[in-house]
Amino acid sequence: MASDSQFSAPELAPLLRSALGRSGRWLFLTGAGISAESGIPTFRGPEGYWRVGSRNYHPQELATRQAFEAAPAIVWDWYLHRYRTCQQAEPNAAHRALVEAAQLLGQRFLLITQNVDGLHRRAGSPAERLYEIHGNIAYARCSAGCAGLTPLAELPALQAAGGGPGELREAPCCGQCGAWQRPHVLWFDEFYDEPLFRLESSQRAASDAALLVVIGTTGGTNLPLQIAEIAVRRGTPLIVINPEPNPFSDQVDRSGAGLFLRGRAGEWVPALLRELRAVLAQP
Ligand code: OAD
Repeated sequence: MASDSQFSAPELAPLLRSALGRSGRWLFLTGAGISAESGIPTFRGPEGYWRVGSRNYHPQELATRQAFEAAPAIVWDWYLHRYRTCQQAEPNAAHRALVEAAQLLGQRFLLITQNVDGLHRRAGSPAERLYEIHGNIAYARCSAGCAGLTPLAELPALQAAGGGPGELREAPCCGQCGAWQRPHVLWFDEFYDEPLFRLESSQRAASDAALLVVIGTTGGTNLPLQIAEIAVRRGTPLIVINPEPNPFSDQVDRSGAGLFLRGRAGEWVPALLRELRAVLAQP
């Protein structure tokens, strides 16, 4: 087990101290990498959903409204498989450290996640300061848009499915209008919006942030990149936590404002919280 001292950076404390002295919220932006240590495959890593694919389909073809309209039961089958993987996973030290960050920072804390696995909620991150900008795999919604979100656990058609691929005979229907229920997840051929995915709220948060901490993401989708660009443009420092360089660590290099903590979320996010506790304890 690595010692705590192995994960400390002398530049971290002064960066956190100066961010505390500025107005604005601390944004934590997370991607699949924060859940990798919980056993959930990332999207573009060696074990990722996109690379594995199932025998007949490549996941990128499944995560679309077009695929759903053509074969709703097959798309639901794949989401049920992913849902069960997420349900079997547990939040890890990084998720728990962000729960503590919310307690220490109060209303200055905001968590924006691309992950649909629900692990931030299950770890205890406050829902009112959590934006799930790609949705949440544990919920369904009417494909005709007539109702709110329904937990998958409350959809008998999905509960009746055995659990193996091809077990689901037909997709669940909306109780109000009879249209298919669909996964509450943003698809490749769809767009961010405010009501379902907090688009404007995320952009607004980026425009007055005191600090942006980017954890475990390649920046493969545009809203996270927008958030970083808005923040960097106004001089907000970035802290980037990732085993690999990425567009966000490149922005740290270009702007000279921030820090790239190269390593796993389970190592560096708790280390960041140790530093924050120490800085807050100083007179
Ligand atoms: P990716 O799979 O694209 O990237 C995972 C990132 O996590 C990479 O940068 C890895 O280096 C990093 N990583 C891996 N293990 C890690 C660890 N233990 N600690 C920290 N980082 C680690 O996943 P995302 O960037 O989240 O969108 O993908 C973004 C979006 O692309 C997904 O939300 C999905 C996909 O299209 C939708 O479903 C709408």
